[in-house]
Amino acid sequence: LVLVVDFGAQYAQLIARRVREARVYSEIVPHHVPVAEMLARNPKAIILSGGPSSVYAEGAPAIDRSIFTADVPVFGMCYGFQLMAEGLGGEVAATGAREYGRTPVTVSAGGALLADVPEQHTVWMSHGDSVVAAPSGFDVLASTAGTPVAAFESVDRRMAGVQWHPEVLHSEHGQLVLEHFLHDIAGCRQTWTMLNIVEEQVETIRAQVGEGRAICALSGGVDSAVAAAIVQRAIGDRLTCVYVDHGMMRQGETEQVRHDFEEVFDVLDVVDAADQFLDALAGVRDPEEKRKIIGREFIRTFENAEARVFGDAQSGTTAYLVQGTLYPDVVESGGGAGASTIKSHHNVGGLPDDLNFELVEPLRALFKDEVRAVGEQLGLPSTMVWRQPFPGPGLGIRIIGEVTRDRLDILRQADAIAREELTRAGLDRDIWQMPVVLLADVRSVGVQGDGRTYGHPVVLRPVTSEDAMTADWARLPYDLMERISTRITNEVAEVNRVTVDITSKPPGTIEWE
Ligand code: XMP
Repeated sequence: LVLVVDFGAQYAQLIARRVREARVYSEIVPHHVPVAEMLARNPKAIILSGGPSSVYAEGAPAIDRSIFTADVPVFGMCYGFQLMAEGLGGEVAATGAREYGRTPVTVSAGGALLADVPEQHTVWMSHGDSVVAAPSGFDVLASTAGTPVAAFESVDRRMAGVQWHPEVLHSEHGQLVLEHFLHDIAGCRQTWTMLNIVEEQVETIRAQVGEGRAICALSGGVDSAVAAAIVQRAIGDRLTCVYVDHGMMRQGETEQVRHDFEEVFDVLDVVDAADQFLDALAGVRDPEEKRKIIGREFIRTFENAEARVFGDAQSGTTAYLVQGTLYPDVVESGGGAGASTIKSHHNVGGLPDDLNFELVEPLRALFKDEVRAVGEQLGLPSTMVWRQPFPGPGLGIRIIGEVTRDRLDILRQADAIAREELTRAGLDRDIWQMPVVLLADVRSVGVQGDGRTYGHPVVLRPVTSEDAMTADWARLPYDLMERISTRITNEVAEVNRVTVDITSKPPGTIEWE
């Protein structure tokens, strides 16, 4: 276990992911956790992340100096590097030489940390203060135009640091530097493999569920699929999977899910609830109200399914519910690492708190990319593993205006064309997702053949993202946009205009509602 101490900037999660890419398990701890508590977890190394402040700013997050005398390897990055310099007796000063963004760095001595790193390379910086003197006993390894001490190490004390952010992709050789610290300086063993993760989880779930039964709501997405696959390995056909078709799925989706999932899961309960959902949505235009109704109807459907599955056989015993909660959800809700607090993260629209379930969360420790890797390890079909995210409320929040069967049909056709062309262009994995939004309450004038048309616009919303928290609009090739536009306006009679959304997130969200 490597602990990544979070000083409040956005970097801790990224660092934790990079550590795991080096096949070493890592978790995030807030900086205010007492050092003794961190050490009690017996970490093989501690990483101090970047942070927003100057070490001398009032109220700047600090860390108790005992961390440097505990005989645990420590690596500091950016703000963490300055904390280390200060805490170990070096010197940090506001030199006035601020460096932001891409910065050339000169390696003067490779040492263990910067071995095999070119003498001149470019890294990502973001700092005002600089380390002007390394702590005694530490070797200075690199400098920049504005920073005399940009990296240092003491192999004897198993400590090192860099002024830059090795975790971001703009820093050349960043992963190599991190791996030098983890493998060569701290001596961490490379045991974090997908096979180990699966085996460990299977054991944990067997211990938790015993001879009980569990139920899992599959959405078609990768998280619930992988969670279910792990639980199935643990308890076999005592797991029942339920898939709710609420009538707002994309073209061919329910058939695809049924086909893919029936191959993998022994018992798949497909509930056709389209009438129930669409009747409940009649006349509703407000986005929040739509979401609430969809959530409520989902709960009803799920309760019925649960009653069918568990029947009376389970009265008095614990019923288990499988959830695809991921590590970022746990971190963001302040949940302690490994703590089995029952949190209500629901990726299917919200389950009520009074449902009497104990949660089984096999993905609690995992990042999304690890979930995909586990899915491949388990042999799940790649259509499942690499499926782009699709929101629980489905096309219902991509129709601006009332959701009706006719409008769903229009959007389904347009969406199918857009997805087909994106796939054909080989861009499925580069594009995070590409919602197609139907502006159902808007009409615009067009001309087609010899006649005037008065149809609806659709909006393409292609985005790139790493985690959906932030996103950028994707620069799709013009010829691809042209093909999509031509096909949609030719093949979908009610749509006479195709537009592209070029807003990043923030300020725009990915979905329109
Ligand atoms: P936004 O629109 O908030 O979306 O930028 C971020 C990501 O979350 C997905 N999304 C949802 N997923 N239930 C879900 O399971 C929902 O209610 C929901 N709303 C948005 C969205 O598709 C994107 O991937």
